[in-house]
Amino acid sequence: MVELAPSILSADFTHLADQVKAAAEGGGTVIHVDVMDGHFVPNITWGPPVVKSLRKATELPLDCHLMIENPDQYIPGFADAGADWISVHQEACPHLDRTLNLIKSHNCHAGVVINPATPVELLSEVLDVVDYVLVMSVNPGFGAQPFIPNSLHKLRKLRQLRDQLNLNYRIEVDGGIALDTVARVVQAGAEILVAGNAVFSHGDPKNNAGALLKAALEATLQKV
Ligand code: DX5
Ligand code: ZN
Repeated sequence: MVELAPSILSADFTHLADQVKAAAEGGGTVIHVDVMDGHFVPNITWGPPVVKSLRKATELPLDCHLMIENPDQYIPGFADAGADWISVHQEACPHLDRTLNLIKSHNCHAGVVINPATPVELLSEVLDVVDYVLVMSVNPGFGAQPFIPNSLHKLRKLRQLRDQLNLNYRIEVDGGIALDTVARVVQAGAEILVAGNAVFSHGDPKNNAGALLKAALEATLQKV
């Protein structure tokens, strides 16, 4: 099953609740919340108070993508604010197993994220711990960057490993997902599609989300 996770990074923040509602009406089923600290990535966004407000604005799961150093310090705060899914970067976590279990101890789905330069192989010891793996198809920090095709072989590898090892993590992709890239990522194995620019930057988020999801579903029906 393919799901669309609109990323509010590209939303109009003065009308955030309405923007989220419109993206949901277009078929978005998970709201992706990009948390940036100005250290792990060269940009700053928001913290738990914004998650707390979003929690009142939607019943959809809130997928908090932590692009921050020392995430252990902040995970309880995001969980208390209403996060449903929390993901952390492999590159930011020296004690990744501990961090993932900390997320689970707060009754959230635990995800691990890899940057474009990080191989899937570095996740081999945590694939049985995580609920989802997020493959970055841009270098994190900003919306509206071009898709990096190198992510495709990582999506395929994660799908193969899941079958081989009989695991059940889900596969998410984030960065540059739009009408011209969505079929390729879906056919490579992506099941949760994060999209910011393609949903919120050009016209009606409801129409944009609907068109993207339609293209994704069509891609699942095409033979690869
Ligand atoms: C990038 C963020 C993404 C971002 C994707 O660091 O993790 O979630 O919103 O944006 P688009 O869809 O515009 O590439
Ligand atoms: Zn993200």
